[in-house]
Amino acid sequence: MINRIGVVGLGYVGLPLACAFASKSFKVIGLDTDLEKIELIKRGETPIYEEGLQELLRKVLEEKSLKVTSSYREMVEETEACFICVGTPSNPDGSVDLRYVREAIEMLGESLRRVDKYFLLVVRSTIPPGTTLNVIKRILEEKSGRRLGEYGLCFNPEFLREGRALYDIFNPDRVIIGAIDEESGKLLLDIYKKFHGESIPPVLMTNPTNAELIKYANNVFLATKVSFINMVSQLCQRIPNADVKVVAEGIGMDKRIGREFLNAGLGWGGSCFPKDVKAFLRFGEELGLRSKLVESIIEINETQIENAVKLAEELVGRLEGRTISILGLAFKPNTDDVRESRAIRLIEELLKYDVEIKVHDPKALEKAKKILGDRVIYCKTIEECLTGSDLCILATEWAEYKELKQEMLKKYMRSPALLDCRRLYDPGEFKQIKFAAIGLGPRYVKSLSSNSEE
Ligand code: UDX
Repeated sequence: MINRIGVVGLGYVGLPLACAFASKSFKVIGLDTDLEKIELIKRGETPIYEEGLQELLRKVLEEKSLKVTSSYREMVEETEACFICVGTPSNPDGSVDLRYVREAIEMLGESLRRVDKYFLLVVRSTIPPGTTLNVIKRILEEKSGRRLGEYGLCFNPEFLREGRALYDIFNPDRVIIGAIDEESGKLLLDIYKKFHGESIPPVLMTNPTNAELIKYANNVFLATKVSFINMVSQLCQRIPNADVKVVAEGIGMDKRIGREFLNAGLGWGGSCFPKDVKAFLRFGEELGLRSKLVESIIEINETQIENAVKLAEELVGRLEGRTISILGLAFKPNTDDVRESRAIRLIEELLKYDVEIKVHDPKALEKAKKILGDRVIYCKTIEECLTGSDLCILATEWAEYKELKQEMLKKYMRSPALLDCRRLYDPGEFKQIKFAAIGLGPRYVKSLSSNSEE
């Protein structure tokens, strides 16, 4: 039974995983090559915002069930298995950059040469189908001088949502184990049995290639669902009285469809969907399969930004010279991550119109500054962000924005107008000001804007 576990790459996936294992009576060594990050974590500080993570990190550090290092040798000597959670960014052509995975496997392989024990390697980084068998196995055997049986290898995808990573680790829908041989699969299953106890979720045991493909197909399917409803939202905007929110509610009641991932909005962003959708398209092409479906979901995602700009123009007329307040910069609520954020994409588009942009976000201001620099005005409060503005655009649906009332918009804005790009608000509550929302039939914009002129 494996009790001592290494986790390589202490980012959005690795750090929560290391803390979670450490909280369930495993001895864990977390490894990262970024020395600043290591120092920060040692002090009990998390380099990322993730609900409950800071508290758990401090607890496991105090209990000494988690220790962090930058030495592969130390990690390999003191553990029996290791989870690879390093990033797999996109190359400019959309293909997957495996540099960090290769580096990690090489370092591990070299350290394995120096010890004499069976070692289980579990890859969690998202990698294209075939990579475990064709790339990782080869590098590992070459560097370690070992043969299968002297080591174990599995691909074990993660389905963690940012902001909910700990919850998803403790309560996954399922565990997918892509094992290179029976022994590797059994050992990894034992780790999960120990971790989850009685409440172990359903397990699918398969080969690494299927597991790799499951991860991509999963994310591409979810992105397709979002793009589908966004396509319906564009249709609803052209039909008087139609409302995509009600349509989503209705089709979501069909158990075969389900309500989740049917929220129309600015589209999907973040560190996973855009990267995985492009990679999926790319390796399909390499295999001679051009997927028009996947091309279309990317296109719909882009047109949602144009759609939002058009709605903004419908609300305030020409955009030039206007001041626009943007509420929400993170790619979704409850995270400080702005990678591929649709809010930032929208801002980039609006900036082409010579507008002044004021922005607010409860957590992501610092990270957004690195992208937007001095092109926008950063505001600490919602009030400050609204002051003197001609249009307020809700771009990320943080719960605190739900509190926004039309009185507040009237009080602070130059001319109160609200564009709801995430369907957070009930249009009825904003009757006295100009209001528009993604996926809401044209009747609303016209009648409400004429209302405000009365
Ligand atoms: C996703 C997957 O959910 C997770 O399983 C995988 O491991 C990593 O990628 P995450 O990137 O954290 O997780 O975000 P998620 O909550 O899935 O949302 C992705 C994007 O889709 C966000 O930009 C979100 O705003 C958007 N989205 C999601 C919608 O626009 N509408 C929806 O109904 C759902």
